[in-house]
Amino acid sequence: MKSCVILVFLVFKIVVSHSRCDTETAVLGGERKLGKGYVSAVGDPGMTRDGLRLGLEAWNFCNEVGEEAPKMGSPRAADCFDISASSLSKRPSLLHKVTEADNKLSVGGPFEGASNKAMNNTDLYAVEKELYLGSKCEVADTPNPWQFWMVMLKNGNFDTKSGLCPQNGKKVGPFDQPGRFPCFGHGCMNQPLLNHEYTSLSEDMSLRGSFNGSYDLDANLGDGFKGISFFEVIWEKKIGVGSWAFKHRLKTSKKYPWLMLYLRADATKGFSGGYHYETRGMLKTIPESPNFKVRLTLDVKQGGGPKSQFYLLDMGSCWKNNGAPCDGDPTTDVTRYSEMILNPETPAWCSPTNLGACPPFHILPNNAKIFRNDTQHFPYSAYHYYCSPGNAEHLEQPSSTCDPYSNPQAQELVQILPHPVWAEYGYPSKRGEGWVGDSRTWVLDVGGLSSRLYFYQDPGTPPAKREWPSIDVGTEMFITDNEQVAEWTLSDFDIFIPSD
Ligand SMILES: *[C@@H]1O[C@H](CO)[C@@H](O)[C@H](O)[C@H]1NC(C)=O
Ligand SMILES: *[C@@H]1O[C@H](CO)[C@@H](O)[C@H](O)[C@H]1NC(C)=O
Ligand SMILES: *[C@@H]1O[C@H](CO)[C@@H](O)[C@H](O)[C@H]1NC(C)=O
Repeated sequence: MKSCVILVFLVFKIVVSHSRCDTETAVLGGERKLGKGYVSAVGDPGMTRDGLRLGLEAWNFCNEVGEEAPKMGSPRAADCFDISASSLSKRPSLLHKVTEADNKLSVGGPFEGASNKAMNNTDLYAVEKELYLGSKCEVADTPNPWQFWMVMLKNGNFDTKSGLCPQNGKKVGPFDQPGRFPCFGHGCMNQPLLNHEYTSLSEDMSLRGSFNGSYDLDANLGDGFKGISFFEVIWEKKIGVGSWAFKHRLKTSKKYPWLMLYLRADATKGFSGGYHYETRGMLKTIPESPNFKVRLTLDVKQGGGPKSQFYLLDMGSCWKNNGAPCDGDPTTDVTRYSEMILNPETPAWCSPTNLGACPPFHILPNNAKIFRNDTQHFPYSAYHYYCSPGNAEHLEQPSSTCDPYSNPQAQELVQILPHPVWAEYGYPSKRGEGWVGDSRTWVLDVGGLSSRLYFYQDPGTPPAKREWPSIDVGTEMFITDNEQVAEWTLSDFDIFIPSD
């Protein structure tokens, strides 16, 4: 890798040559670790590209915008740049592709490609703004161009009186709080304040930039973080050396006890996990079970307390209950999530006395099935929680259906915990592995594992193609009792698919 970068400096073709060098490096790295025959599915293999492509999106409870935060614009932003060097000056400079005016674009503000119907609709406007930012960040590549890594923030407050979120994809009017959803009152579903420090290059040739902010619109940061929510992503890299380090922090508060912060590799076109609209991202090719692997380095510095469901990996996909691919109809499309929760304090809700929180069966690597009523053999403690889509019509009882409001459509969740049954796939086999103080580089057979997880389908329908248009790492701090802080660094993120 070093020689590749040095060559690039000598011929002063950084921008043009860079992605090719990086791809070769990553493929070689991949072959060393994974055996021959794999190529990277992401545009920035291993996060090694100096010319970063990074986006940010913020979602309300049902993955939309609702109302923009005052003066913050539509909650989509990007930091994308190439690096140039003139032959007279040794010092390269950064050529930013997204201006502050672009990042501040707010509903009603025109931009190239914006449709009329988006102009007075905050949800549609954010979607189109993402496509616009994507067009500025796009990198030509084979087999497809790509746009950016994506920082995703989500506010888990739900004002049931707002009428903003559908129920399993069907519109519902305002209703009384059932007591399950946090909300301090009107406006609790707000979008955050956002500060953006554009990436810059320092004297010692290191690159650094950041996003940070708070959901508390009246936050006075002068008082420190006491009493307020906070999020931060700082990205750092030395030119020509290794991977970007994405340093994350997330803090909950009494008003915002349920927050999510992820770094995602999303599809570059079509739907992404949890969406029902066109997206932009990093996956040149959508990985499909059973043949793909994920490599990443994760250093968890602070866990975020007992309710922090830290996802070593969180994957989103979408297919209908009859196995057909999603087509954007939220009444029949179903988001499917698979999540490995690292936090050793997360209990297994699935147990011999709570079968409704377990999938109907577990599949062994040799494809043998163990039914959940087989108390001798079923690995209960390998599952935190399984819940079925709210629109499934042929559920095996007992069952637990997933929250009907927190996605634009029905959802299904398979949440797993470190356990010996996952060791075969390179996943953590014991609680505490990879947790605070145990930084690791993981090579995960995600394709193999996800091909053997149970997902609901109507009886007799052909099995859905399990494609994963969103793969991410981060934490969901799920209704914390106290103010909690999670802190972690992600680097070397890569996704490998078979080269044929
Ligand atoms: C947006 O404008 C259209 C056409 O002028 C109107 O019918 C619609 O109600 C408006 N929507 C909102 C959310 O203001
Ligand atoms: C947030 O980022 C801004 C730069 O965009 C910086 O000036 C500020 O100090 C950061 N806030 C905290 C609390 O780190
Ligand atoms: C266990 O569950 C399977 C699948 O639902 C069912 O066919 C079987 O009869 C059950 N066995 C017992 C002992 O209840």
